[in-house]
This record gives sequence, C-alpha cells and structure tokens, in this order.
Amino acid sequence: MYSASVLSGLLIFTPLYLTSFIPPTLATPLPPSNHDPSPYPVSLLHQFPPGVWAENLATTSTNSLLITIMSTPDLLLYDPAAPSLPPTLLHSFADNGPYASLLGIAATSANSFAVVAGNYSLTSAGAIPGTFAIFTITLPPTGSLQTPQVKLLAPLPDAQFINGLVYHAYPSPAVLAADSTLGTITRIELATGAVSTLLEVEAFKPCGDSKEGLNGFHIHAPTSTLYFTNSACRTFGKVPVRRDGSQAGEARVTVTYPAPYFFDDFALGGDGTAWVAVSNGNGIARIAEDGEVEVVAGSVNSTEVAEPTALVWGREGEVGKGGERVLYVTTGGALGDPINGTVVVGAQVLRIGVEGGW
Ligand SMILES: *[C@@H]1O[C@H](CO)[C@@H](O)[C@H](O)[C@H]1NC(C)=O
Ligand SMILES: *[C@@H]1O[C@H](CO)[C@@H](O)[C@H](O)[C@H]1NC(C)=O
Ligand SMILES: *[C@@H]1O[C@H](CO)[C@@H](O)[C@H](O)[C@H]1NC(C)=O
Repeated sequence: MYSASVLSGLLIFTPLYLTSFIPPTLATPLPPSNHDPSPYPVSLLHQFPPGVWAENLATTSTNSLLITIMSTPDLLLYDPAAPSLPPTLLHSFADNGPYASLLGIAATSANSFAVVAGNYSLTSAGAIPGTFAIFTITLPPTGSLQTPQVKLLAPLPDAQFINGLVYHAYPSPAVLAADSTLGTITRIELATGAVSTLLEVEAFKPCGDSKEGLNGFHIHAPTSTLYFTNSACRTFGKVPVRRDGSQAGEARVTVTYPAPYFFDDFALGGDGTAWVAVSNGNGIARIAEDGEVEVVAGSVNSTEVAEPTALVWGREGEVGKGGERVLYVTTGGALGDPINGTVVVGAQVLRIGVEGGW
C-alpha cells in the first residue's frame, strides 16, 4: 500500500501513444443481466468479450485503472470517468518473455507500478512453474508522447505460481509477491531486484490437490497485521508481522467459507475491514475485523459480479454523495466457473459504492 501523498501528483494521460485493445476473442459479448439486487450498488463500467479474463488492477494518481489480463499478457489502461471509451493497450508482454499471462499488480509510486508476468493456462495446467517474473512499468510524464518504460525487475525461476503483489516501503522500497503453490511471500527490492523469502506460513499453503493456496494479501500498517486469502482452503486470515513484514506471531484463520466457494484477492479498509472477491460465488463479501462475513454485491446465480478476481480503492477524494468510498473490481467473466454451469460473460470492470451507495 502507498500513502495518499504519493498519489497527489497529477498525472494526465495522453491517449496518443496508445492503441485500442483488441481482445483475442471476437465473439459477441452477452448483455449483462442483474438478478438479485446487491446491497451495495454495482455499476458495470466495461465488459470484454467472452474468453477474456481480467486478473487484477491498480489505480493511477489520476484515478485511471491499470488492468492486468491473464488470458493474454496485456496491461491495459482504462479511465472509469469515461467508461464508454474502451480500455487501451499500454503494453503487451508477449515479446518480453514471451509470457502468456499477467497476474498481480501494485503501485510503487505515483506513476510507477510492478506487475507479475508468467504463464497461466486457463484451460488446462493452471500456473506453469518457472515461468514467473516481476516487471516494473513507469508511465510517461504528463503530456508526453513517450511509451511507458517497461523493465525486468527480477526473474523468479524458483517460483511455482506468483499471484498477488503488494508494495512495501520498509526498510527499503520493495514489492512482496505471493507464491500460491509454495505458500510463501517473496520480497523483491525495487532498487536492485534482489530476491529473498520473507514469509513461509502453513496457513498459506494449498489444501488438498489444489495448487492455489495463498492468493491476495495486504499489510495493515496501523495494527502490524498481514491479512490474506487462501483459495484452496477457502480461508481468510491474518498474521502478525513486524514493520519489515516478517512474521511476528501465529497465523490465525478467521473465516472458512462454505464449499465450494472460495476467495480471490481483496481490498482492505482503514479499520481492517476487508472487501473480498468471492470468486466462484460471483459476489463481494465484506469481512469485518471480528470475522463476520456479509455478501454486499453480486450473488451466486447472477452475472452482475461474474467471478470477481480483485478489488482496489478509488483514489482518495473519489467519494459518492454520501461520503462513501468507491471500489473498482475486475472479474474473470465466469470463464473459470460458468454461472449455473453454462453462462460465461466477458471479463468485467465494475464500480461498487461502499457504505451507502451514490
Ligand atoms: C509461456 O508462454 C509463451 C507464450 O505463449 C510460450 O511461448 C512459452 O513456450 C510458454 N512457456 C512455458 C514454459 O510454458
Ligand atoms: C441461474 O439459474 C437460476 C435458477 O434457475 C436463475 O434464476 C438465474 O437467472 C440463472 N442465472 C443465469 C446467469 O442464467
Ligand atoms: C442457484 O441456482 C441453482 C440452480 O441452478 C439453485 O439450485 C440454487 O438454489 C440457486 N441459488 C441461489 C442462491 O439462488
């Protein structure tokens, strides 16, 4: 996580160097359909054609969204304030590796980001061990016609399945990357690319035959707590950590969700409340500090929130009429787990008004 001051510098994107994103599948998108009304208002901002899986997102200093696509190695830029303009392709990583997929993304400063590239097969094998790497992306200065600067920060040849990514500033600027299969969090120094294992926790490891344990994680600095989801175990929990993110106490699982539904990534509120993507449950759950779970958007048989993958807060200042905050959500369009066993829509970009709507 990064402070609001880091985001205060204005950054105006010029679309001139961008080309419109042409998704690989040209099938006609199905119209979105809302069935059960959500307690929190959900707006569909953009829907890709079926076959596109959006995996994660980050907010820029001007409240544009950087969206990672997992079905192709594409990093997209999208302005939720102009929702009818389709996302544009910021960079394809097809020629960097080549890589097949993008996964986690984190802002590292006002106009710099780190992203996970690797191979994830949605149809068969899942994550391919040994294919993962972390790249940095620096967006061009305001008004510039330059393309973004893309650099390999660190290859991760020993990684099995790098998934969630967060920024961590102490003791030096770094990104922390979750390995879903190994159940570890790796620290990668932004200045040098040096790689070290920061955490290895039993509660991060996958359950059963699954290879997807630890998925999303975020550190809540005020309480020195690392919150995490474990997809295979269908759990949400916390680990006490030191300021550098290393483990300071026993992990505690606070929620085990009813089968077959499981959690993907999440966004953390200032009070430790989490807004969690309930992947194949097609909903967003609010998990209170005491572990109480309430589904606040979407529902299992609805395409409104079709297999959500990640959430991010709108920048400070973007609030609804009642002072509530705004979450942006990416979805996989139910490609992995069709709704009612049959319905697949394209990946979605959604906006959710939190606490009161707008
Ligand atoms: C990873 O994906 C790229 C692009 O599709 C492909 O060329 C490469 O062979 C893949 N590598 C592995 C180890 O699967
Ligand atoms: C799924 O099935 C339920 C119950 O039959 C139905 O109400 C709902 O509309 C279906 N959802 C979709 C996306 O077709
Ligand atoms: C979803 O639809 C299935 C039938 O496809 C039905 O059995 C189930 O009760 C529905 N669940 C909800 C929460 O509506």
